[in-house]
Amino acid sequence: MNADELRSQYIAFFKMKSHTQIQGKSLLPDNDPTVLFTTAGMHPLVPYLLGQEHPAGRRLVNYQKCIRTGDIDAVGDNSHLTFFEMLGNWSLGDYFKEEAIRMSYEFLTAPEWLHIEPAKLGVTVFEGDATVPCDEESAAVWRSLGVSAIAYRPRADNWWGPAGTTGPCGPDSEIYIDMGIEPCGPDCEPGCPCGKWLELWNNVFMQYNKTADGVYEPLVRKCVDTGMGIERTVTVLNGYKSVYESEIFAPTIAALEKAASYTYGTDAEKDRSVRIIADHTRSSTFILGDPKAISPSNIGAGYVLRRLIRRALRHGRKLGIAGIMLSPVAQVIIEQFSGAYPELAEHRTVVIEELDKEEQKFMETLVKGEKEFEKLLPNLLKNQQKIMSGRLAFKLYDTYGFPLELTEELAGESDLSVNRQEFDEAFKKHQDLSRTGSEQVFKGGLIDQGEIATKYHTATHLLQQALTIVLGPHIAQKGSNITAERMRFDFSHPAPLTAEEINTVQALVNEQIQRDLPVTMEIMDLEEAEKQGARALFGEKYEAQVKVYTIGDFSKEVCGGPHVTHTGVLGKFTIQKEQSSSAGVRRIRAILE
Ligand code: ALA
Repeated sequence: MNADELRSQYIAFFKMKSHTQIQGKSLLPDNDPTVLFTTAGMHPLVPYLLGQEHPAGRRLVNYQKCIRTGDIDAVGDNSHLTFFEMLGNWSLGDYFKEEAIRMSYEFLTAPEWLHIEPAKLGVTVFEGDATVPCDEESAAVWRSLGVSAIAYRPRADNWWGPAGTTGPCGPDSEIYIDMGIEPCGPDCEPGCPCGKWLELWNNVFMQYNKTADGVYEPLVRKCVDTGMGIERTVTVLNGYKSVYESEIFAPTIAALEKAASYTYGTDAEKDRSVRIIADHTRSSTFILGDPKAISPSNIGAGYVLRRLIRRALRHGRKLGIAGIMLSPVAQVIIEQFSGAYPELAEHRTVVIEELDKEEQKFMETLVKGEKEFEKLLPNLLKNQQKIMSGRLAFKLYDTYGFPLELTEELAGESDLSVNRQEFDEAFKKHQDLSRTGSEQVFKGGLIDQGEIATKYHTATHLLQQALTIVLGPHIAQKGSNITAERMRFDFSHPAPLTAEEINTVQALVNEQIQRDLPVTMEIMDLEEAEKQGARALFGEKYEAQVKVYTIGDFSKEVCGGPHVTHTGVLGKFTIQKEQSSSAGVRRIRAILE
């Protein structure tokens, strides 16, 4: 079974079980530049898991493109990937543990579906702690299905979420497959990381909302959130040991073998490079081919993209690939995945152009780094121990993007070695810092479903309409970011706003607040929403059925919400700052008091 078949079987199975298929969302989370990437199918569904009604109903299924870069340095082994596809089914206050587990079991084992031998399955359940009891309920369901390899695991292993520091979460039950190798010892059981048990699917029983005070509030509606990794499942179903052996990577690896005149499988170190290039090029192609495409840069998601591209290029050099390397591989990926992700073919030109541009830039970086190294060399040679400081090597890496391996290569030519330990220490310090940063970014992005954020959300609609009235119909949203302290709104407009324009926009928003307009929501067909002139985010993909929020006679927008029920509660709206965000894009920062 290949990935296309697995995707359609999964969707068909859950449709048969009365689920509605919803579109996967962008890799760059909705309306929220503070979250770097979508990391699970549940991300776009957080508001619904917390209790909002989803326009498509209470049983949902989809496939979602995801990126997780936490383990980027582990990519190159058998299973780590930065980009992966997740299959998921959700119950929003509908079925719970028993039905979810029974459906998972049926899909995995029934002859007409995946037909995995039941004896090969093992599961884990939450063992319980001071806050939440042991999940005997799930264990009992598994037992009744005949599954006997059941491991009780602690919170560190069997608890999923919240995605940030607050939000929906709960105990989970993970489904593993026995890879048929010897157990690592008498305690080897599902969940053991030795390689015998491979996790295929996770059923999360969302029962709690973790609040900012660290309290686990029971959710009004209990939900189910599941995630099955396509790459792993395809690998297992076809009896491969590594995801890179599966058909998912075969065309990419064939292209790389040709470019490098190398036969995959003949040299462990080179194989690792091939895998890294294959994974990183796939991630980069999907990021650049996203409707909300970003470019390589030095911050946020753009920085991750740059790192992926440059790391792939460095391994390309190691393999001796000459000439433009990434875009031909990206073409292969676009061909392969455009059926499931048509946006890739639609953005083909951008993907290719951006990759070529970044490749060119990196080659220049390499030349610059080599020059800097030459400058350092006379001093280095004075050093009797013939050791180059790791901090210096890190500086080359950090400032010029010059990779450690190349510093080592150049140093080696002059009989110098680099103090790796020092480099690693400097690197780790930097990594810890950026990790803290991205955790905070994450937090800021997902949790703010609170009252204040809701008010800012409604104010954003008022602001956009006011801008349209004052500046003209060309105003399009280019980004929006809300924290508990302020809102930020980016929009297309060619020139700075005059003081008068700012005052008029501000007054117009405050006028709507004073009018205490009702905010109402209606679910309708996308077509109908367009017919009614509802504003939608250009380039965004919507479901066939959408929510439309109407603010009195002032604004109508397709939006997931949440919003306040009447504008009077917003208070006083003040524009604090208006500035340029990027070429042709202005940014407004405003507060509600
Ligand atoms: N959200 C859950 C996961 O990513 C299903 O494992």
